[in-house]
Amino acid sequence: MARHLITSALPYINGIKHLGNMVGSMLPADVYSRYLRQRGHDVLYICATDEHGTPAELAAKEQGLDVAEFCAQAHDAQKAVYDGFALAFDYFGRSSSAENRDITQHFARKLNENGFIEERAIRQVYSPADGRFLPDRYVEGTCPHCGYDKARGDQCENCTRVLDPTDLINPRSAISGSTDLEVRETKHLFLLQSKLQHEVEQWVARHEDDWPQLASSIARKWLNEGLHDRAITRDLDWGVPVPADTWPELAAEGKVFYVWFDAPIEYIGATKEWADQDPENRDWKSWWYDVDTKVRYTEFMAKDNVPFHTVMFPATELGVREPWKKVDYVKAFNWLTYYGGKFSTSQKRGVFTDQALGILPADYWRYFLIANAPESDDSSFTWEHFTATVNKDLADTLGNFVNRVLSFSRKRFGDDVPAGGEPGEAEAKLGEEIARLLAEYEEQMEALQFRKAAAALRALWSAGNSYLEEKAPWLEIKTDKDGAALTLRTAMNLIHLYAVVSKPLIPATAAIMRAAFSLEDDTATWVTAAEAKSLSAVPAGTPFTVPPVLFAKLTDEDLGTYKERFGGEEG
Ligand code: MF3
Ligand code: ZN
Repeated sequence: MARHLITSALPYINGIKHLGNMVGSMLPADVYSRYLRQRGHDVLYICATDEHGTPAELAAKEQGLDVAEFCAQAHDAQKAVYDGFALAFDYFGRSSSAENRDITQHFARKLNENGFIEERAIRQVYSPADGRFLPDRYVEGTCPHCGYDKARGDQCENCTRVLDPTDLINPRSAISGSTDLEVRETKHLFLLQSKLQHEVEQWVARHEDDWPQLASSIARKWLNEGLHDRAITRDLDWGVPVPADTWPELAAEGKVFYVWFDAPIEYIGATKEWADQDPENRDWKSWWYDVDTKVRYTEFMAKDNVPFHTVMFPATELGVREPWKKVDYVKAFNWLTYYGGKFSTSQKRGVFTDQALGILPADYWRYFLIANAPESDDSSFTWEHFTATVNKDLADTLGNFVNRVLSFSRKRFGDDVPAGGEPGEAEAKLGEEIARLLAEYEEQMEALQFRKAAAALRALWSAGNSYLEEKAPWLEIKTDKDGAALTLRTAMNLIHLYAVVSKPLIPATAAIMRAAFSLEDDTATWVTAAEAKSLSAVPAGTPFTVPPVLFAKLTDEDLGTYKERFGGEEG
């Protein structure tokens, strides 16, 4: 038994996430956590909302809410959707927690003591009308290079050139539109990442061979470009305050840490939030601080987050000079596209997680998304692909198998699993095949190859169908009643096995399948190779019920409705 610490990138607070966000971090982390728990490991799966920063302030303003109030509501709204998706976090915290504030301030003090933080004066755009300094991207104006009139202070979207807000012609505040802007000098804390370059390089070098190529190549690219010192404070009202004991002047000016400084620290903060709910029994430090090698830490994220997790956050942890746990394995994902284009929260393109749950239960989405996870490349969501997958894999291969077997058996043999004869050659062959596919499924799960794991699971379901077609109990029963009973009993054992091993992907359906059998002592969380071969966990005489259809078939009409509502290729 190992101890597995698992985190998924913290979803930003400013709105409900789309399916692309779900498949690129939280869902695979949940599937992996569930799998490891079922295999008997000690697992801690931690996530939280990432609540600080300007976008949160602006979203609050748009809704006429105080930012703390906005975040509290938005956190609950996201949590409700994740519950709907059956994400089994051990804890889903908030980066605005007191725990995160304390640990973030501690990190900053230590970095300062160790010579990795410096105060520097910078010149920044101030908007008297807004009563605040404007972050670069909230200054808009005309691009000096191409004349585009909606260029942002960090970059021109039209010609892609990187800009300084002071480069813009006719600059204005993106918040209020005010053109009355001034440049003021203000002091900020800088994290001297350049001093940590060498150490981070050595640390990456020790790990990158274990990481998937997507993660190590991005880490390398950032290291090759060189780590730059960067400002880790902002002039905002909302954030972790700069500690007054260390920087009285900046604290008095109301400076807070930059959201990307405190967000990854919230992985630790949320673990402490978890422990603070039950301090007698939960030891957060045993997961994070001076831990033995038995804790394996796996992070899940989309590729745009990789630099922060492979380079920047490790640099911070290294600079603190305390034994904080660093990531062992970085599972990174490419993009899920919507008909080949971008899912976009701001342009409302694609399918949002709350909408998805309004259409179909979580298991439909969980299975489809994992089976098509953008692992080696981007993958495209289309309604055509989605409905075809649901119909073929879930409704036909799994759902129909379960219903056909159970209802036929009940019709011919009553409410208990029939006895029938001794297993023969077909059953032995099936058992071998199931054991082989189960081993494949386990191997892919352990390698965090989610598409391949889903393919192995699908192959397990298919093997049941092949067996059933081969034995054809509906014909067999006419000449060999015992043989038909054996076939059905074997198939019911497959259903029970499917219930156990499908649970990481489709937990609700797995529970229904399992509950179909009234077994006395049904506590096994996994299936051994020997059990897979013998297919005998459900003995003759076990009472069973026939559950309602597990997965509805989606019609052409459904497909049409979805495309009409969400847009298809033309987006
Ligand atoms: N909120 C960020 C995003 O949506 C991810 C934060 S991950 C963490 O891209 F490292 F900060 F925790
Ligand atoms: Zn331009």
